[in-house]
Amino acid sequence: MNESENKINIVVCMGSSCFSRGNNKIIKVIEGFIKENKLENDFEVSGTLCEEECSKGPNIRIEGKLYSEVEPISIPTILMHHLKTRNN
Ligand code: FES
Repeated sequence: MNESENKINIVVCMGSSCFSRGNNKIIKVIEGFIKENKLENDFEVSGTLCEEECSKGPNIRIEGKLYSEVEPISIPTILMHHLKTRNN
């Protein structure tokens, strides 16, 4: 089995609107959280182009669920939620 199939995929919108609304920082917060908590085997981060939801940005998508108006402070809660529900 491909190792990445077990990982929770975090897709960060890197379109110019989301990027300037905060995803430039959000992606660093996500990567920092993963590293600090040694969750490299649980999550993988990728970027995407504009998802045409710019007015609600910054947007990220995890396991297909779209999170809008994401704030850096929400990242640990969102990631841990996905980790817990995956493990259950
Ligand atoms: S730039 Fe992210 S939805 Fe358009």
